[in-house]
Amino acid sequence: MTETSPGSWPELTTARLRLRMWEARDAAPFAAQNADEETMRYLGGPKTAAESDAYIARTKTHWAEDGYGKWAVELAETGAFIGALGLQRIRFEADFTPAVEIAWRLTRGFWGRGYATEAARAAIAYGFHTLRLPEIVALTVPDNTGSRAVMERVGMKLAGEFDHPLLPHPHPLCRHVLYRLTKQTS
Ligand SMILES: CC(C)(COP(=O)(O)OP(=O)(O)OC[C@H]1O[C@@H](n2cnc3c(N)ncnc32)[C@H](O)[C@@H]1OP(=O)(O)O)[C@@H](O)C(=O)NCCC(=O)NCCS
Repeated sequence: MTETSPGSWPELTTARLRLRMWEARDAAPFAAQNADEETMRYLGGPKTAAESDAYIARTKTHWAEDGYGKWAVELAETGAFIGALGLQRIRFEADFTPAVEIAWRLTRGFWGRGYATEAARAAIAYGFHTLRLPEIVALTVPDNTGSRAVMERVGMKLAGEFDHPLLPHPHPLCRHVLYRLTKQTS
């Protein structure tokens, strides 16, 4: 993984991917991704283009306020936008906060190729070595086996379950699993 800062923000390059700042051309493919029922199955269902644009705006605000955030991910070879992945501050209180989580969402046609894991490893390295985070966590619903598999591939350990405080209880997506990864100091 290499880290550069071509503009105001860091970019990460892996063997097959570029994690870069959001551009206007990402809005349409990201809206298509967020309108896909299967992709959004564990994320509260399909979103409108306006909601997708609002996600990008919130992501840029997070970058501006915290100095890190979720990157737009593209294929290095073609420049095709394939999704969002990166680090974000957890905005609710729980017994494991304050904490920084890693989050990912790829366009369905790009699943099953190891891209999420490859990008996640780069983002985790950036979090530990550049941001000097002591720990990175990840959250999802118990049934999201695809996302949990990425967590496990990057070395995260299941640390428990909790009810998401920003979702009503009971709610089909309320129960979450928590995975944690601590920076190796040796
Ligand atoms: C979660 C999500 C990113 C996982 O995507 P994914 O494609 O399953 O994960 P990876 O990119 O790591 O790919 C791993 C798969 O690629 C395969 N693969 C193929 N070529 C590969 C390569 N060159 N290198 C590594 N793995 C490769 C692996 O064997 C693995 O296959 P398997 O799932 O059959 O075991 C994706 O399902 C998604 O975006 N879901 C919707 C949004 C969501 O739920 N986000 C999480 C919210 S918490």
